[in-house]
Amino acid sequence: MKARTLRELVEHDVDLAARTTLALPARAALYARIKSVAHLAKLGGHGTRRRFILGGGSNLVMRSDFDGLMLHIAITGRRLIGEDGDAWYVRAGAGENWHDLVTWTLAQGWPGLENLALIPGTVGAAPIQNIGAYGLELSERFHSLEAIDLPSGKTLRLDRQACRFAYRSSLFKEEGWHLDGQRVITWVTFRLPKAWSAQTAYADLADELDRQAIARPTGQQIAEAVVAIRRRKLPDPALLPNAGSFFHNPIVDAAFAERLAAAHPRLPRYVQADGRVKLAAAWLIEQSGWKGRCLGRVGMYEKQALVLVNHGGATGSEVIALATAVQAAVRERFAIELTPEPVIL
Ligand code: EPU
Repeated sequence: MKARTLRELVEHDVDLAARTTLALPARAALYARIKSVAHLAKLGGHGTRRRFILGGGSNLVMRSDFDGLMLHIAITGRRLIGEDGDAWYVRAGAGENWHDLVTWTLAQGWPGLENLALIPGTVGAAPIQNIGAYGLELSERFHSLEAIDLPSGKTLRLDRQACRFAYRSSLFKEEGWHLDGQRVITWVTFRLPKAWSAQTAYADLADELDRQAIARPTGQQIAEAVVAIRRRKLPDPALLPNAGSFFHNPIVDAAFAERLAAAHPRLPRYVQADGRVKLAAAWLIEQSGWKGRCLGRVGMYEKQALVLVNHGGATGSEVIALATAVQAAVRERFAIELTPEPVIL
């Protein structure tokens, strides 16, 4: 197929509501669906327009129209690129759907990603916020990635260490790669260890497997259990628009967590490798009276207080007003500052 010219790639005044899972009304002045690294290279780093890199639109709050160029990364393809005694190495395009990749690797007999089943979004967005769920983070299965530096046209290769992964964070998030659109993740390689063991310590997952009377689950069975839990607790964006967890789980120092637990004995606490303690934002929000409560056309979801939902026709300002009210309530009751998880544009 003939490579298209840049002019042909760019659309004008594009509606973003259907391209983002919170379905807020917003338009992009310029929008390009990028299907190959060659398309990206053609774009270069020039132009004074602001840019933003769009993946699946599942972690994005549009406050208003975007007066720049939105690059929707749709590079697809996935295959086994190597295998040694220890692991399978799978490479996937940044535009691949995350859950499809999880399902496909399991069907090939390469377990490892099962705890991350049904997370919305794309492969290219996954390393940016180091997606995680049910006791596993992407960083644990990540091998390396390729990106293109648009101003120079050079390919960058980053291994796991270079990516500086942390809880819902990475080098890319810290440096705002998605926000300036100058460096774009194009391909990601995963390392799926052959010495696989089921990771079932997360309470919800252990309970679900118990309920199904599965003592020694396969990767496939773990994925099915995760899908069942997510379907039960998290709203389907197609039916009730949302962007997943709206706030990070706050990480506090051990002494603060201990004082808080003395006052609130049921406080869920997860001790981190560095001794600090991760608290459950959902619990803090519920205790502050916001679970299932609405403000305008948005609310905190009745089955999972951490998920902000659009009950229909909401605007970005309504989302911000609710987020601000929830932050104030949690600050007032617990002296904890909640930080939004999605990108707010
Ligand atoms: N809880 C409440 N009230 C609620 C919901 C939960 O008190 O309404 C309590 C639970 O009882 C539990 C604790 O809060 O003790 C944690 O709840 P849950 O297991 O549902 O997980 P979470 O901390 O709210 C995180 C991730 C989710 C991920 C789940 C499962 C973040 C910000 N969120 O949520 O990720 O699916 O764990 O691993 O880390 C996302 O990032 O978009 C996302 C959905």
